[in-house]
Amino acid sequence: MPLFQTIQCNENTRILIWEITESFDELRSKVVLKEKTQLRLNGMKSEMHQRAFLSVRMLIQEMGFTDKDLHYDEFGKPYFDCHNYISITHSYHFAAIIISDETVGIDMELQREKIIRIGDKFTDYECKYLYPDFLEEYIKKLTFIWGAKEAIFKIRNEKGISFKDHIWVEDFSLNESQTQASLHFDDLVKDFDVYHQEIKSDHFEGTFTLVYAFEK
Ligand SMILES: CC(C)(COP(=O)(O)OP(=O)(O)OC[C@H]1O[C@@H](n2cnc3c(N)ncnc32)[C@H](O)[C@@H]1OP(=O)(O)O)[C@@H](O)C(=O)NCCC(=O)NCCS
Repeated sequence: MPLFQTIQCNENTRILIWEITESFDELRSKVVLKEKTQLRLNGMKSEMHQRAFLSVRMLIQEMGFTDKDLHYDEFGKPYFDCHNYISITHSYHFAAIIISDETVGIDMELQREKIIRIGDKFTDYECKYLYPDFLEEYIKKLTFIWGAKEAIFKIRNEKGISFKDHIWVEDFSLNESQTQASLHFDDLVKDFDVYHQEIKSDHFEGTFTLVYAFEK
């Protein structure tokens, strides 16, 4: 499938989502890869991971960039040569990128009951407003909190950050698309605006939570 969805977040920030329905060969034939990227692709064990990785290159091409423009730092954080920031996520049959002139992070997660089992590993501050008795809402909120912390981690990319202790997501309503979060690390407090929305597809059962964060 071509581009699944575009979200214009603000004047200089855009999210592109790809639904991965093509075969590996089809995707590979449509992207130009530099040698380093080809080597990384060759080393991936799962074909689904390879297809997601190639779909990200399709999205980059959609935005007028090429694989040659995209680099990774020593921790795996992607960046461009130019003044744009990029963040990348893939989850099952979706791949998504956010490109902005501000520092941004993105994450996409499938809503699953399983998240309840690991809830206490990444929440603490948030426990004051989470109600496990309302199961559906609890799963959606945990999924959003997890995604928010991943997105913020992708922005800051600092060794030693604990999702549970250092990133705090403020109370939010699932009906509103925005909330606040903060990172308390290394004697500094950084604030973030975090946005979320649900993504569904005809080809895949289940609902995804898309989360993106801007550093203030
Ligand atoms: C690296 C990490 C952020 C990736 O997130 P994920 O949800 O597993 O996977 P996603 O598909 O959403 O994101 C993968 C993309 O993140 C980007 N990424 C990887 N490392 C990154 C880093 N250090 N900083 C920013 N972005 C990073 C890459 O672009 C990668 O895709 P690509 O290599 O194909 O280009 C995550 O695995 C991680 O290490 N999180 C922090 C560790 C942690 O504290 N975990 C939870 C404790 S309870």
